[in-house]
Amino acid sequence: SLPSRVTLVDVGPRDGLQNEKQAVAAAHKIELVQRLQQAGLREIEVTSFVSPKWVPQMADGAEVMAGIARPAGVRHSVLVPNMKGFEAALATRPDEIVVFGAASEAFSQKNINCSIAESIERFAPVTAAAREAGLKVRGAVSCAVACPYEGEIHPDRVELVVRLMKEIGVQHVGIADTIGVGTPRRVQAAMERALKHYPLAEVSGHFHDTYGQSLSNVYACLEMGIASFDASVAGLGGCPYAKGATGNVATEDVVFMLHGLGIETGIDLDALVDTAAWISGVLGRKPVSRVANAMLAR
Ligand code: HMG
Ligand code: MG
Repeated sequence: SLPSRVTLVDVGPRDGLQNEKQAVAAAHKIELVQRLQQAGLREIEVTSFVSPKWVPQMADGAEVMAGIARPAGVRHSVLVPNMKGFEAALATRPDEIVVFGAASEAFSQKNINCSIAESIERFAPVTAAAREAGLKVRGAVSCAVACPYEGEIHPDRVELVVRLMKEIGVQHVGIADTIGVGTPRRVQAAMERALKHYPLAEVSGHFHDTYGQSLSNVYACLEMGIASFDASVAGLGGCPYAKGATGNVATEDVVFMLHGLGIETGIDLDALVDTAAWISGVLGRKPVSRVANAMLAR
């Protein structure tokens, strides 16, 4: 049977806005986080502490973290690639950090400028220091179905990275279809490998909608009992190191499906759609999500 409650992590402020060509003001990022909090999101990926030369869009991470309210019960996470990023992140008091690796060697090189093995060597001290500081550590596994440079990725390679993350003390793994080519059975095959090393409660799905498969992939994971997903309001997003990849599955599309299935999320869909309309307006366009556009047209 499907889970009765699902947790959604809105990654729009990070995965969404990291990919915008236009500069987005820190004040708008702060307001986006606040609107998501008010819409009932209890997990929000706020920003990343990466090189501003590589991803200038996230250069204001400390300012954004300092500007957001920190209501009780809401967990705010940030991406961290190395100790330098961790130290900068720690000063902003995140609840969680996310180390981000890949199942593909080529993507690891393009995205974080090191091999998979080197990335694990970097994540090990970050993970130890974060846990020492009482922070939860999540690991993202990019290219868990396919890589923009290497093509199809075998589930064995997903399992290898998952196992390495487990060995260094990463507490949760997010299995990511970075370029959105995954279809339900392929996604399930990758998820099965993660579930060999992590309990159901510590595995989540992160799906991009490039080929329109993301909602089906969420459903395929629900059938396996997976109850946590990354999603992004208004379908914002992409990855600067995965050309042509579009945004994450839209949070409002997932919420509409989950509520239709009788699954609780704690999220107020109307407030979420208003947020999607607002941030899309800031960016000078319409939301890409079907649910937002349908509800806004009513
Ligand atoms: P590097 O050049 O190999 O790093 O980059 P380095 O250690 O050799 O340092 C070079 C320079 O960067 C130095 O500065 C460092 O101080 C600085 P310089 O002396 O030249 O002035 N530096 C930093 N500055 C700020 N924060 C840091 C930091 N580290 C070094 N943390 C690095 C390695 C990882 C830093 C670089 O490759 C990078 O920043 N990459 C960005 C990757 C990224 O943010 N990608 C997007 C997020 S991942 C994603 O979207 C996928 C996901 O959504 C899941 C999915 O969909 O697949 C999570
Ligand atoms: Mg992503």
